[in-house]
This record gives sequence, structure tokens and C-alpha cells, in this order.
Amino acid sequence: MKRLLPLLLTALVGCNNAQTVTITVDTAQKIAEIQPNMYGIFFEDINFGADGGLYGELVKNRSFDFPHPQTGWTMFGDVKIASASPAFPRNPNYATLTLAPGSLTGTGMDNAGFKGIGLKEGETYNLSFWAKGAGTLKMDFVDADNDLCGGKEIQTDGGEWKQYRMEMTPERTDAHGRLRINLLSEGTLCLDHISLFPAKTWKGRENGMREALASALNDLNPGVFRFPGGCIVEGTTLGTRYQWKNSVGQVENRPLNINRWNYTFRHKFFPDYFQSYGLGFYEYFLLCEDFGADALPVLSCGIACQFENDQCVEPAHLQPYIDDALDLIEFANGATGTKWGGLRAQMGHPEPFGLKMIGIGNEQWGEVYPPRLEMFVRAIRAKYPEILIVGSSGPSADGEQFEYLWPEMRRIGVDLVDEHYYKSPEWFLANAGRYDNYDRNGPKVFAGEYASHHAESGKANNFLSALSEAAFMTGLERNADVVHLATYAPLFAHVDAWQWRPDLIWFDNMQRLLTPNYYVQQLYGHHAGTHALKTSCGTSDLKGEEGIYASSAVDENKSVVIIKIANVSDKTRNFGIELAGEGKKYVSAEVVVLQHDDLMAVNTFENPLNVAPQEGKVTLKGNKATIEALNNSFNVLIVKYE
Ligand code: AHR
Repeated sequence: MKRLLPLLLTALVGCNNAQTVTITVDTAQKIAEIQPNMYGIFFEDINFGADGGLYGELVKNRSFDFPHPQTGWTMFGDVKIASASPAFPRNPNYATLTLAPGSLTGTGMDNAGFKGIGLKEGETYNLSFWAKGAGTLKMDFVDADNDLCGGKEIQTDGGEWKQYRMEMTPERTDAHGRLRINLLSEGTLCLDHISLFPAKTWKGRENGMREALASALNDLNPGVFRFPGGCIVEGTTLGTRYQWKNSVGQVENRPLNINRWNYTFRHKFFPDYFQSYGLGFYEYFLLCEDFGADALPVLSCGIACQFENDQCVEPAHLQPYIDDALDLIEFANGATGTKWGGLRAQMGHPEPFGLKMIGIGNEQWGEVYPPRLEMFVRAIRAKYPEILIVGSSGPSADGEQFEYLWPEMRRIGVDLVDEHYYKSPEWFLANAGRYDNYDRNGPKVFAGEYASHHAESGKANNFLSALSEAAFMTGLERNADVVHLATYAPLFAHVDAWQWRPDLIWFDNMQRLLTPNYYVQQLYGHHAGTHALKTSCGTSDLKGEEGIYASSAVDENKSVVIIKIANVSDKTRNFGIELAGEGKKYVSAEVVVLQHDDLMAVNTFENPLNVAPQEGKVTLKGNKATIEALNNSFNVLIVKYE
């Protein structure tokens, strides 16, 4: 492995007595206010994170509107695709099934789900479909061996399009099941929007989210929730950008969009990757509310993904894009008597969602971006002056574009600037001081996408990547007056269908896997504090000297002082933590530790807790706490005061 700490390192001058390093936390010196929403999540429909992931739908291409309408389905007998007199005009295709007398094959179709349908024995699944015509259908679960494992008949009663619902229960557990539909009666029946959800979704909602994945997000205690992406916001072409208005209203009538991660990487090609928008902006806002997180929607600024082409809307034609932003704010916050606030109410949420901020553009760059952004900023400030606006500093954390865009963001006067950094562990370790000298007077920083990429392991979510993020984040905490928001990226990945890694949470059709990086985010999310405190060791402010990184915060709501120490070295170190400053009586202490001897360690489905937080040992005497910080460890010490 490369040397981890290239230049850093003067010794921890003045803080060593033979074995113990003394860290002083000055509880009287609040160096920064920590935003209550500082640590959060960034969601993008990449790696089958939405359809096939967080979104609970188990049927792929449920409304036959993929460009190849049979995608996801294996049809048998006489099945055709039609679109005359559709049930849903924006998703016009449907299947017609005809069973002729004496048919040898029978008529019907199997759906293969998203790399299979996860079936759990004995659990209830809600199946629904729209049908036109009278007939008898047999709905079956089929396992990976092609054996039936739980089925039921249902009668449709003729006439116009109508929705039918039934409950199904698998007789076996199988990660790669299928749904089979058989027409048993002679004649023709039309079927559309065939949908299957586990009954147990997050909060038991219809059109709901996969419980295990939504609860993993909730357990991060996220303060902010950026959605719906990254690159998918921009689209490879303007025509395929994410358009939030297509993602709201009746689920069946939300038009399909191709997912740009369908074809982006030819070596990771997923021609069956589309966005149903079943998880749309209404559902995102609900999740934010569930998690107690502030919503941060990001919209296209009229520039398609600049990695792909130079499609740009001429400023003279930008108004519809600006209207999308204004209408979104109305959808989230407007009175129920307004057009978009009315739609929100009709969808089930008359109370406003309390949107506070909006992102305009994702990773934009060059001279095309500022003038377009300015047009948005003028329009939003004029109508909604209370809304914070997030601009972009381009796709990299440094370099020409970054240097050009930051002054432009200042000139335009956005409230926050989104920075993205996908860098090596060495970079993260060397950059804990990145924000120490940032201008305190301009826009604040939103570290909107970051992750430590360990190239040598194929960008595994290994402990080294997590530990380097933990160490770097002490610098975010120390600079919380300028860094207001931070979100790791990307969030989700299906083990059988990913395009990008590392990712915070992996899953298959049955279970989820929390990475070491997840636990780092969780520790910061749960132990953020309200104010950063001056933390030092002699003259060092602990940005990597001898592999030690530290920061601290007080949480005035919970009456605790929180000290975070990353020991990025192969030596166990003893720390004495002196809580300086008057007036606090310390009554108890605990320490949570994320540690592994092997920096290459990862979590797997077989060993999911290989790297996971453990309780460590701490002693507290008066205002002095002592801990032993093991080699390669991230330690979060929580000291309660009265
Ligand atoms: O997080 C994956 C991608 O990385 C995002 O879509 C994009 O913003 C960045 O390039």
C-alpha cells in the first residue's frame, strides 16, 4: 500500500508525555455553529437505486412502455402490445392476451423483476393491475427453479379499464423469483400497470419504499436530503433530463424516462434501466418529512450533461426551465388554492412541505453556466426571497473550472456552492484542513458529493476509505461555520446491477449491506453537536500529525460534549482529553469505536458487521477523560454534563 500520509507530519509537539497524548477541548471557545441539518444524504437513481432499489415496486416495465415493450417480460401464447384507447395516455401501451380454444401453449407472461423478484416465504405481497374485458387469470409466484410457489385466481368482470387488487403469499423464499400471469378463460383481456409490492413497505404506504432501505436512511439521522441526482438531473440530452412535473400525480400516468446510467458506461451496460418515476418528487418530500430532513431538490439549469455533449438552452428559451423551479416551490410550499399546491393537496398532503432550498444545475461548468444560473436566481429571489439557492463549482474540487466558478458564484450571490470530490484516501487524509482558510463571508459550502476512492482495491467500500472520510470530516466539523451541508455519494447500489462504486449502502433482492462508510456517516449524523469547539494538542490542531485527526463539538440540546478522534496509524495511542472551560459538571462518558486491523476490510452479506461500531472503554475523572484509541480507529467520545 502507498504511504498514507505523504507530507503532513510534524510531531505532536508538546502533547506527548511518555504514553499519553493530551487533547484539550476548550468548551468555552465555540469556533463555529453547526447547522442542525449539516450531515445528510444524496440520492440518485444510479445502480438501480430507485426502480429495483428503494422504490418498493417489484415488477419491471409494469406498464409495457419501455421502448421495447416486452422488456422484463417473457410472453407465451397470443400476447400483443396495443395502445388504442389506453388506460393512461402518458403511458399508452398495454398488453392484450388472447386464449383461443385448444391452445397448446396457453397464454400469459412472466415478469423477471429487477434481477429477479425477492420472495419471502409467508409474507404478504400486494398485486394490482388494470384490466379491460372479462376473464379469469391465474397469478403465480415462480421460483428460480421454475417451480410454482404460491398462486391465486382472480376474475375480471368486463367493461372499461378497472383496477383489481389481490394479496399473494409465496410458499418459499427465493431471491430470484418471478411473477407469472396465465389467462385461463377463452377470449381476449387487456392488462396494464401490473404492479407488485411487499405489503410491508416503509411506514406501510401504498406505492411505498422498501422498508429495509428506507429505514437504513432513517437510521443515518439525515439532516438534509438532496434528490433526485447528479447526472440524471441534467440528462445526457435535454430531452432526457429529470423533469419533476412528470414525477407527480397519478402513479400510473407518470411518463417513463430512460435512465442515463442505462448506457453511460459501455462496460457496465444496462439496456433495461429506465425511470418509472413511481418514486417521484411527492414521495421524496414525504421521505424528507419522515426522516426529519430538509429537502434539497436539484433541477436542470438548461444544460445537458457536459461530459456527454454541449446541448444548452438558449437564454431566450430558458423560461420553461425557470418556471419548473418556481412551480416546484409552489408544489412544495404553496397554498392549496394554487395550481401546484393544489396538486400536492390532491395527492394527500395539504400542509406545505416547508421547502427551504433548491439546487440549480448539477456539475455544470464553463461560461454557459453563470448567465443561466443568474436568470434563475433573479426569478427565484423575486418570488421566493426566503429560498436558499445552491450553485455548482463544477465536477472537481480543484482546477480551472473550480477556480473560475467560485468567484462567479460569489458574484451571482448564491447561498451555497456545491462541491464534489471523488478522490483517493491519501487526498482525504491530506485535506482535513481544506476549509480552514475559506472565505467566511461569501456563499457557504455544500459538500454535495464526496467519497474516498481506493483505486487499488477496485474502489471497494473498505475500511481505509471509511477511515479517511472520518478523518477528513473532522475538518468539516471544525469549519462548520463555512461548510453548512455534506452528503456522501452515491447512496445505493444493487449488487447485481451497479454502474458506479463505492456506494454507501449495497443491497440484493432480499437484504441490505451497510458499509464501513455508512457507519462513519451514521456516527457523524447522530453525534453532530450544535457548536464546534476549539480542539488542540499543544500547537497542533490535529489535522493529521502522526496520523491523528480530531475535532469536538458541544450539543447544547443534549448536554454533551462530543470528541471525534481518528487514529490513522498502526499504533494504538492513549489519549487524555481535558475538557477545559468553566461551569460544566461532567457526569458520564461513553465511546463508540469503528476499528479494524486490516485497512482493506469490507463488510459482506456473510459478515455484515465485520467493520461496525462497538462500544469502547473510557474513564472519566472530573473534567478529564482517558481513552485508548486503537490502531486504525475512529472514536467518538460522548461526555455528558449537567
Ligand atoms: O455520484 C455519481 C455521479 O457523480 C453523479 O451523478 C454526478 O453528479 C457525479 O459525476
